[in-house]
Order: sequence, then C-alpha cells, then structure tokens
Amino acid sequence: MPPDLSVLTALPVQRREPLKVVSAWDLTIPYQEFRAQHLMPPALAAQLPDRPTRHRTYIVVNQKGGAGKTTTTMELAAVWTAMGYTVRVIDSDHQASLSGWLQPLYPEDVAPKDRRELTDVFYGRCSLDEATYYTRYQNLYVVPSTEELALVDLDPRVGKDTALRKAIAASQAPIDITIIDAPPALGKLSVNGLTAADEALVPLKVGALDERGLGKLHRTIRAVQEETNPGLVVRATFLTAWKRSEYAREVAERVRADYPEAAVFTIRESVKAAEAPKHFEPVRLFEPTGTTAADYDQAGRMLLHPKEDTA
Ligand SMILES: Nc1ncnc2c1ncn2[C@@H]1O[C@H](COP(=O)(O)OP(=O)(O)OP(=O)(O)O)[C@@H](O)[C@H]1O
Ligand SMILES: [Mg+2]
Repeated sequence: MPPDLSVLTALPVQRREPLKVVSAWDLTIPYQEFRAQHLMPPALAAQLPDRPTRHRTYIVVNQKGGAGKTTTTMELAAVWTAMGYTVRVIDSDHQASLSGWLQPLYPEDVAPKDRRELTDVFYGRCSLDEATYYTRYQNLYVVPSTEELALVDLDPRVGKDTALRKAIAASQAPIDITIIDAPPALGKLSVNGLTAADEALVPLKVGALDERGLGKLHRTIRAVQEETNPGLVVRATFLTAWKRSEYAREVAERVRADYPEAAVFTIRESVKAAEAPKHFEPVRLFEPTGTTAADYDQAGRMLLHPKEDTA
C-alpha cells in the first residue's frame, strides 16, 4: 500500500547567484584570486542534448572513502526531482548511508523481515521495482541496502557484472533517472554499477585525495568500457567540499587533464551540508540558501538542461 501521497514534501526550487562557467581554467591568475567556478568543455556543451530523451542511469563512483559520493547522489536527486523528473536512487553500499539519510517509507502492512533491498535483487529474490520504496520526497524513490549487501561481494554465485544492468532494464516503473551510489571499493558492486550506467560522475574531495587511487579508478573505468559497457562515459567530476587553496587548483587542473571530455563542478564546502544527513534531509532542504545546495543545483541543471542559462 502506498503512503499518503499528500504528505510527501516537494523539494524546493533553489535559486542563488550562480557560479561562473568557464571552458578552461585560467592558470595565470594567482590561486588567492581564484574563485569557485564550474568548467564545461565546449565539446561537451555541444554534444549534450537540450533535454534528456530517454531514461538515463548515472553512477557516482570513487573507491576513496568520504569523497562525497552519497552527498552528490542525494543532491543531484534533489535538484532533478525539483526540476520535475522522477528519480530512483540505488544504495549500492553496505554501509547504507544513503538509505539511512533518505529513510525509505516502508509499507505498514509489510513486516520488517519482508522488506526488500538491493541484496534481494542480486540474489534474484525480487525485482528492482519490488525493492523500490517511496521516500518523504515527491518523485524520489530509493532502493535501500543493508549490511547484508557485503555478501554480494563475497559470494561468487551472484552479482555477475551485468546483473544490475539487467535488473534496471527489466524495470517497468516510470523512472526518468536512476542514480547509483557506489561503495568505497572497486569490487563487484562498483563494476556492476559501472556496467549498468550510461554516465559516470566522479566526486573528489581535495583534502582527502588519493593520487594512486585515481589511477586505479581510471583503469577500472577503462576495463569496463572495454569489456562490458562500451557506451560508458565519464560525464563529470565534482570537487566536493571545495575551499580555495593552491592544491585545490592543482587538483582541478589534474582532473581536467585526466577527463578532458568531462565537466568539472566545484561544490563549495558548508558546515551545515555535513549536518544534513543527521537530520534526514537533503542539503537542499536543510540549508536551502547555502552554497553547497546552490552549486549542486547549477551542476544538475547544466547536466540535464545544458542550453538553459545557468550562469
Ligand atoms: N560540500 C560539502 N561541504 C561540507 N561537507 C561535505 C560536503 N560534501 C560532503 N561533505 C561531508 O563529507 C563527508 C563524506 O561525504 P559522503 O558521505 O557523501 O562521501 P562518500 O564518498 O559517500 O563516503 P563513503 O565512501 O563512506 O561512502 C560527509 O560527512 C559529508 O557530509
Ligand atoms: Mg557513501
């Protein structure tokens, strides 16, 4: 039985002074004068459709813990539902941070032991749609996970590379966008997500950067492109919890060089953004006028409606 839909919260439309959008970083200015900016390569701007023309699957991926994957998943889901899209997020991490943050609305007539989650999908015990739950937000649905999902990584009988892709393809639900929140590991779950996705989004936290890890992520994405998903593209990187520093600028330049066809979004740090999960609210709702929500808002619009003026 669905919940009382009239009580679901519509995520607010967010408008704040947008960041400047550039097509290349200006490396001639001293870093002290460097402002937060988004980078949109001209080739990408020309290639993105005006509006999504079909269902799209994104994966937010980086094996580095604390890079901002779950926050990026949540905030993109929030902006896209606020724009009128129907979004399903898949919690593909057995830490279940996204499930804990979003708090699925389980039907009252289903006993807790009968609730479904992503592990059940991998074990073929239910379809993806049967593991999809309402959240307190209009048009935002979640496939939760629990610590049991760790079993999928260990059990050789389940989670063939294409399992999640097949589960998404078999879905009948009228979903516009699926976002997979990957775990901090490059094991079976991340490979499944990369195989299922049309587009990869890579969050990086400048203060917690792992240079060798970045190379490994790059190689994993290449391997998936060669073996199971030739259509996969790295669409954007997100510099999360961004603060001005010389190193932040080096990282910005490094990711532009690593992924020359991807957008680079700068998401400014906000103390309140880090508190939002404890209050079970997207940053967009918890700190609607903050910089973090504003920067994700602009990034989400640039990805889906690139011809709209967002800067
Ligand atoms: N823009 C921001 N400003 C301030 N804090 C942020 C920002 N983005 C993320 N954080 C905080 O950084 C921490 C890590 O973020 P998050 O949980 O999204 O990373 P993750 O990559 O999903 O981590 P894990 O690898 O454990 O799944 C969290 O405490 C989060 O609230
Ligand atoms: Mg996470």
